[in-house]
Amino acid sequence: TARELSDRYGRVARDLRVSLTDKCNLRCSYCMPEEGLDWLENERVLTDDEVVRLVRVGVELLGVQEVRFTGGEPLVRRGVVDIVRRSREISPDVELSMTTNALGLARTAPALKAAGLDRVNVSLDTVRRDTFHEITRRDRLDDVVAGLEAAYDAGLGPVKVNAVLLRGVNDDQAPELLGWAVERGYELRFIEQMPLDAQHGWTRDDMITADEILASLQAAYDLTPAVEPRGSAPAELWLVDGGPATVGVIASVTRPFCGDCDRVRLTADGQVRNCLFAREESDLRAAMRSGATDEELADRWVVAMRGKRAGHGIDDPTFLQPDRPMSAIGG
Ligand code: GTP
Ligand code: 5AD
Ligand code: SF4
Repeated sequence: TARELSDRYGRVARDLRVSLTDKCNLRCSYCMPEEGLDWLENERVLTDDEVVRLVRVGVELLGVQEVRFTGGEPLVRRGVVDIVRRSREISPDVELSMTTNALGLARTAPALKAAGLDRVNVSLDTVRRDTFHEITRRDRLDDVVAGLEAAYDAGLGPVKVNAVLLRGVNDDQAPELLGWAVERGYELRFIEQMPLDAQHGWTRDDMITADEILASLQAAYDLTPAVEPRGSAPAELWLVDGGPATVGVIASVTRPFCGDCDRVRLTADGQVRNCLFAREESDLRAAMRSGATDEELADRWVVAMRGKRAGHGIDDPTFLQPDRPMSAIGG
């Protein structure tokens, strides 16, 4: 490939995160309101053909090496297994993964594996039924647990679990969740909450910091730094009681990894975003629908990367939360 997705700071994006829908079947309180959001109109959402075409342009013309499907909740999209299969047909080498809440995964895990998906990351913030209901506003913990088991059994691993801690809700459950995950062979990562909720209710004081998370885990477990090279991975890894199990902390806010970022995102309505916190998007859907060639799409995408800023700027006094919430950007 002659082109690559490089920015003015020397970073090169090789990890493409593709949102397949902005819809979700949960209503996590830190993500969206009980009543849901104004979902994208159908005609604005990329068709399966359009998604696969842009994945192909990324992989064949722009040096993309990993494709992660996200949402909203990617499994609510009807064509998801087909999109995975067609993405796999583009290249046997590209890593294909998915970030999902695991609802429905118990049924689709084997088909996703057969279609060529390599692994999944599952969002799960608690293993208590009442707390799960409180956070997600749905009584579906058993389905998530079954989905996780099915993913593990189907070989969609290493299976990672993402957990967000909320002050006064589940922030006392970190060791319990870790014990549960370690027992089952899932790699748990705790995530600092970022200002990306649809309600714009995030405050720095409410956010549970990486240091708080580590202190709470250290009260129950012996944690030693894992010596794996971290590269562009967002998680700092710790060995649990000497290993081999690990726990990760994704300290996006207090210890940002923006300097090593290798990501670029495509929203469900076909906009390139060079950062979660980007203020501008580049409209590949419009370009595609007005007849752009693959080469022209690739050129447009390259240009979109030049505007990528050095960091998310959450600490700047002038910080503005993006208009799109996390569920419409892709997790
Ligand atoms: P792997 O480590 O490759 O399995 O994936 P990942 O951790 O990058 O992906 P996942 O979708 O599981 O994301 C986990 C969490 O990382 C998300 O919930 C976000 O909180 C955070 N994250 C993902 N992408 C970005 C990003 O571009 N910027 C920042 N600051 N955080 C991100
Ligand atoms: N900050 C950090 N992570 C978030 N997630 C959702 N909203 C936020 C936020 N504001 C997580 C979910 C899921 C992943 C897609 O993003 O818990 O694991
Ligand atoms: Fe759905 Fe993920 Fe948002 Fe929860 S955090 S409501 S699972 S998109």
